[in-house]
Amino acid sequence: MKRLILVFPFIIFFILFSNLLFGGEGMWLPHLLKSLNEKDMQAMGMKMKAEDIYSVNKGSLKDAIVHFGGGCTGEIISDKGLILTNHHCGYGYIQSHSTVEKNLMKEGFWSKGNDTELPCMGLSVTFIVRIEDVTSDMLQGITDDMKDNQRRLLYDQNQNELLKKISKESYQDVMIRGFYHGNQFYAFVTETYKDVRLVGTPPESIGKFGADTDNWIWPRHTGDFSLFRVYASENNLPAEYSKSNKPFKPRHFLPISMSGVAQGDFTMVFGFPGRTNEYLTEEGVRQITEVQNPVRIEIRDKVLKIMDKYMRASEKIKIQYSSSYAGIANSWKKWIGESQGVKFTNGLERKEKWDMEFQKRVDQNLAWEKYRKLIPELKKNYIQLEPLALAKDYYAEAYQRNTQLYNCYIRMKRLADAYEGRGEAVYLQRRTEMSEQAAQMFGNMDMRIEKEIIAATTEIVRKGISTELWMPYLKDRLNEVNSDYIAFAEKLFSSSQFTSPEAIVKLNLLPYADWKLAVQSDPVWKFYEELNYFINYGIQAQATVLEENISDLRRIHMAALLEVFPERRFYPDANSTLRVSYGKVEGFKPRDGIQYQAQTYLDGVMEKYVPGDYEFDVHPKLIKLYSEKDYGRYAENGKMPLAFIGSNHTTGGNSGSPAIDAHGNLIGLNFDRVWEGTMSDVNYDVSICRNIMVDARYILFIVDKFAGAGHIINEMKLVYPKKTSKKNKTPMLIKAS
Ligand code: ARG
Ligand code: GLU
Repeated sequence: MKRLILVFPFIIFFILFSNLLFGGEGMWLPHLLKSLNEKDMQAMGMKMKAEDIYSVNKGSLKDAIVHFGGGCTGEIISDKGLILTNHHCGYGYIQSHSTVEKNLMKEGFWSKGNDTELPCMGLSVTFIVRIEDVTSDMLQGITDDMKDNQRRLLYDQNQNELLKKISKESYQDVMIRGFYHGNQFYAFVTETYKDVRLVGTPPESIGKFGADTDNWIWPRHTGDFSLFRVYASENNLPAEYSKSNKPFKPRHFLPISMSGVAQGDFTMVFGFPGRTNEYLTEEGVRQITEVQNPVRIEIRDKVLKIMDKYMRASEKIKIQYSSSYAGIANSWKKWIGESQGVKFTNGLERKEKWDMEFQKRVDQNLAWEKYRKLIPELKKNYIQLEPLALAKDYYAEAYQRNTQLYNCYIRMKRLADAYEGRGEAVYLQRRTEMSEQAAQMFGNMDMRIEKEIIAATTEIVRKGISTELWMPYLKDRLNEVNSDYIAFAEKLFSSSQFTSPEAIVKLNLLPYADWKLAVQSDPVWKFYEELNYFINYGIQAQATVLEENISDLRRIHMAALLEVFPERRFYPDANSTLRVSYGKVEGFKPRDGIQYQAQTYLDGVMEKYVPGDYEFDVHPKLIKLYSEKDYGRYAENGKMPLAFIGSNHTTGGNSGSPAIDAHGNLIGLNFDRVWEGTMSDVNYDVSICRNIMVDARYILFIVDKFAGAGHIINEMKLVYPKKTSKKNKTPMLIKAS
């Protein structure tokens, strides 16, 4: 009994913190793996050393990873600079090379050789050459009592000094980023290649199979991949696009495993996750999931319903709106999953437990007196910020993020600014361009839809927002029409000259003084100017103080966490820098009575097949391959593996990241997370948080058997590693308490 009493606190402690001891949660810095993660990763089955993943002295996995187009990840999979990334990451470029006669989105595209690859202007890929700790340089002259706004001035100064000091080649760049909310700083020496060409893409019916209905959903059957190639100068260095550039020779490329995956296998994901907020206090998480998300969701619900109604009725509108619909729906669906996930897993209670444990430790140690008020102070500031944060969301969602009316205003604003800032000649040139492109500018807009959106969102804002934060200008306009929201929108649109190409062309013929007068008296212009004024002075002026307080408090709280919980391994929140996540292939139990398997097969595509549907149609060639079971060497027990899930901690930006096996081979391509677990950005819980990857064998099958592009396969290195799964030996990932 006595022994039990002695070990009891230890058991409690273990249960409370053990989820932080093994894989699953965490986005780790590649150059710190050796000291923080190597043992853990090896215990989970990894056969590599940390320096096989990140090394400055020799080729390592990191040399095959690129930041793709700034928002996604890609990886090099041949010694000729072949890049694998998601279909949705290459989408804009695939779209830009598509015409009605040659629609690459619809038909797919497979280049026969280097000379038929398609240049993608504006697309670049960035390699990380090395990472250096520059914390002490960046914190020069900064004292504890300095607030964030004072600190920022010194950061800028220190950064300028540092940029002069860090050694780099002329073709390299240096980027400095803050970690742990401004408690640490790292410099990244990078190389950016600007000649990137499209090599291959499956048709949308494969690359976007299931589209928005299946987005964020498991089980999944999307072949979300595309292929590009990096080109370099004669000396293999970064160069602007030129016909004479050569395929880039990488320091390392990823071999592709043909052995497939099994439940329990070690996996890691290497890429550029964008943004997470894992160390919020309970109040911080509550504000996101119970206050802000519901408003954003409510507005987008309405906007999406309006778009959908028109899209279903007209093929033309479906094409016009599919891209904005996808973008709006993507976050909408993610937020719904996030709020539900936190609720379902008692995420707030879990955060509260952490807050209480923190408070308890701090209260008991005089040295931490300075941290005693942190949690209550944070809470106080969050609560004061709440109505303001909510109002910002209301206005942004209603009038900026989900309507193209805003773009109409922004275009005119830029033109007016060009006159003020760059002079008449530049203004006139841009104005001519605008008039020439006017028809195209409105190509993806239908004013009936935009009008209906404004009417509907205005009603939601009016009913939801507190009276003090209801914009006076809007109130007056609504009074004029007896609060008839449709009449309000009708009037706004019909009396504006920004809402049709013809009116814009006509407006742009006026001499500048008249043009300015006409623009400034346009109701859309006035509306947005008033909105900006109100957001800046009616909301932001008060919000800034609180936001800065919160930012200060979060920096101190983060430093305190690192100090107060020495047994916890803290990874820095995602900030679009290179990270390693690791976990294993595993299914999960989303709800009572349901168990999700970790792997899907091509059979599922046929189960979901809806002939002629824009989301679930299947290409005849794929149906044929399926019915003849013509899978070449890519099948497993007579079935074609398609996608799998794992407990790797990922977020937006990890799209296109490689899933890598125990030996460093590519086994899959990350492209999504499961809907139930999208809360992992604020509350990772290994019981339901999973990332979704396309199985590498499905990619090979599509390139080889579906597209007949065997020459692209020949460039790759296919390997057959022995299965290493030791199902029972991998440490259990224990559910977060
Ligand atoms: N949910 C994925 C991500 O966050 C995929 C988005 C693209 N696909 C789509 N159907 N909208 O980016
Ligand atoms: N689809 C996301 C992206 O584009 C990745 C999914 C996620 O958010 O984890 O980066």
